[in-house]
Amino acid sequence: MVKCSLCQDKAIVKIPYAGLRLCKEHFTKYIEDRVRKTIKRYNLISSGMRVLVAVSGGKDSSTMLVILNKLSKELKFTLYAMHIDLGIGNYSVYSRRTVEKLSQSLNIPLIILEVKKILGYGIPEIASKAKRPACSVCGVIKRYLINATALELGADVVAMGHNLDDIITYAFKEFMNQNLNALAKLGPSTKSIKDLAVSRIRPLYEIYERESLLYALINNITFVKDECPMAREDSLDRIIKVKYFEIEERYPGIKLAFVRRFAKNIQYYQGTEPEFKKCKTCGLLSSWDICSYCRLSFKILGKYMGHDTRNYIRELLKNILIRT
Ligand code: AMP
Ligand code: FES
Ligand code: ZN
Ligand code: ZN
Repeated sequence: MVKCSLCQDKAIVKIPYAGLRLCKEHFTKYIEDRVRKTIKRYNLISSGMRVLVAVSGGKDSSTMLVILNKLSKELKFTLYAMHIDLGIGNYSVYSRRTVEKLSQSLNIPLIILEVKKILGYGIPEIASKAKRPACSVCGVIKRYLINATALELGADVVAMGHNLDDIITYAFKEFMNQNLNALAKLGPSTKSIKDLAVSRIRPLYEIYERESLLYALINNITFVKDECPMAREDSLDRIIKVKYFEIEERYPGIKLAFVRRFAKNIQYYQGTEPEFKKCKTCGLLSSWDICSYCRLSFKILGKYMGHDTRNYIRELLKNILIRT
């Protein structure tokens, strides 16, 4: 039996970049300590903050919710969870149920937004009406609903479940595109802009995908194992992830070193963003006169839906906030 580097128990995982083999208990503590360090190193959450956690039901955001819940008492912040029901058949039904169960078991108030109730259609119909790839319209809608909910809730930050491998993949893709503006947004947090945008934080910034998966498995966290059915099999993201996995096998810790250096240098990319504007129809953050969400909704419904969406969320939150 291979023993844990820190106790006499059986090691269940090898962490090559740290030269450790850890048992179940020490691995759990190791990951929680690393998330705590990430929060402190990048100043992601301070005492007294209201933190909204965006939970898809996948392994990363579920793991993140569990860890933040554990840290919330010690670091003294309040948690709310939100889930967007995307209306993608059984995948969305199961994802929603999974998030409901998890937040109930942790006793965290959950806000659920249904895209079908807000826009009248689910993501597959919206994508075909807009004649755009599902992931692209889905991204616009998710970003808007998450930011609008955070603003209406008065959240100080929104926690997103991107892990280290996600960041590397996006960074590599955007580097190849030389999209410095997109690179500027890939740090451990983005800035808040009063009344327009709430800061997004990434507590799993330094957690490898396999670590987040293992944490969920050994701590019996229920999560959705299926991939979104709209995701493309041959996407560039997947290819980059596989290649980086091979590089990490040969050079353990190279990915962790990269995200740390990248986070340190993020200021050099940040001067490249275009000036932000306020959407003329809904009043939220936009790069153009009218935001992407309002333009997308106009294309499919003939109406800019941002304003109505914000009112819908405001009403929904009244009920939730009365109960908590
Ligand atoms: P993705 O954009 O699917 O890679 O997901 C990145 C992060 O966005 C997740 O880790 C969650 O924090 C959040 N997210 C994705 N999908 C949803 C959803 N349906 N509801 C709430 N948050 C989501
Ligand atoms: Fe958005 Fe699959 S989760 S299209
Ligand atoms: Zn141990
Ligand atoms: Zn708008």
